[in-house]
Amino acid sequence: MHGTRLVQRAMPSMARSAQITAVKGFRDVLPDESARWQVLEAAALDIFSRYAFGEIRLPIAERTELFARSIGEATDIVEKEMYTFVDRGDTSLTLRPEATAGVVRAAIEHGLVAPDREVRIFYRGPMFRRERPQKGRFRQFYQIGAEVLGREDPVIDAEILGLLRDLLARVEVRDAVFEVSSLGDETCRPGYRQRLRDFATSRRAHLCDNCQRRLERNPLRLLDCKEHACRSAMAGAPLMIDSLCGPCAEHFAAVRRLLDAANVPVTLNPRIVRGLDYYCRTAFEIVAAGLGSQNAIGGGGRYDGLVASLGGPAIGGVGFAIGVERLAMVASALTVDTPARPIVVAPLGADAWAVGFSVATALRQAGRRVELVAGRPSLRSALRHADRIGAQQILMIGPEELSAGRGSIRDLERRVDRPLSVDLETAGERLLAQVDGRAEAIA
Ligand code: HAM
Repeated sequence: MHGTRLVQRAMPSMARSAQITAVKGFRDVLPDESARWQVLEAAALDIFSRYAFGEIRLPIAERTELFARSIGEATDIVEKEMYTFVDRGDTSLTLRPEATAGVVRAAIEHGLVAPDREVRIFYRGPMFRRERPQKGRFRQFYQIGAEVLGREDPVIDAEILGLLRDLLARVEVRDAVFEVSSLGDETCRPGYRQRLRDFATSRRAHLCDNCQRRLERNPLRLLDCKEHACRSAMAGAPLMIDSLCGPCAEHFAAVRRLLDAANVPVTLNPRIVRGLDYYCRTAFEIVAAGLGSQNAIGGGGRYDGLVASLGGPAIGGVGFAIGVERLAMVASALTVDTPARPIVVAPLGADAWAVGFSVATALRQAGRRVELVAGRPSLRSALRHADRIGAQQILMIGPEELSAGRGSIRDLERRVDRPLSVDLETAGERLLAQVDGRAEAIA
């Protein structure tokens, strides 16, 4: 009972206190789920490498102004969902609600962007939005995303969608629909926005409070409201796709032709409204069945004015982000390889701890998966533990045999014991030979 006694001695007067739980909307990703995420990330990394992307690791916090200027002051994200705080002095910082703005900021800051140069960058990590938590919606959530800066041609839009198709196929997402549309540009969108505003104003009385408020500042969001009354009031609203200027219409037609040629099936959804203001032209969302109301597993599009608006050259950009939690819920090929069955090292009693520790270390250095059960009080409980975790062998080092430098190895499948010769210097080939049964008796 050494282990228990030690703990009691180290914490003599610790009274049991109230439990502290995670913050609402911030969740723990436990080892089983993490293992599935690792499979997902490995698939994404492989696909990104095939499409020649390099990884960027961005800061979690940025200056608030970066998001206000890029995502847009009148968006839900900037208006009410950002975790913003003043950092001691007077700098307003925000936990990133998305990563596109950070990628563009970093690309400009480090001189990665220039006219006629293409940059391909991917990222993964947590994002923060203070939304109402529900199934598939969290306040801290994870994205994997990618951005291509410096390309205006439609080939790159198609390539991004092709990449996403490859990724979803790899992790076996069935029933995902790629919805695409065009949001026009600064030539055709202002006129459309006015027509939409006029249409909505004529139905103002039927709109919810939220939409009445949005009417002036962000009328496009009216197409996105989930309220039944708003949906029927806006049913016959004019659509951007019918108001595209010549170059935008041409760009979108080319994207669709390329996708067709590459067998990337997409569905036109002219009512796509992205929740971020930086988009122009191609916009898309990937929706999957079986997720309830939060059914978008990813989204993205083109944002040609963004780099210039953040102080960089006038170059185009296009990208996407997928939500890891949501993708992991619908991907069926995230099977984790069964790890090798472990070897349990059981030094039975404090006198054997040092030898046990050095044996475990030597085996791990040789690449074996090892559990050291030094705190366990008895041989019986060590054996029970080894059985429970499906160990392949248990190396028992007891106090009596120790002085003679001996222990024993039990093969837990065949239930046979073999002698083990150990000391503090035990390492390398000699130990492995014994564990692998290549030398039955070593003096
Ligand atoms: P987004 O559509 O805001 O786009 O987010 C992308 C994905 O992140 C969503 O489709 C969803 O799967 C996931 N997501 C968003 N919010 C939450 C949440 N609260 N809980 C769980 N998952 C969530 C962007 O973020 C853009 N930066 C994408 C982009 C990149 N556009 C161009 N480049």
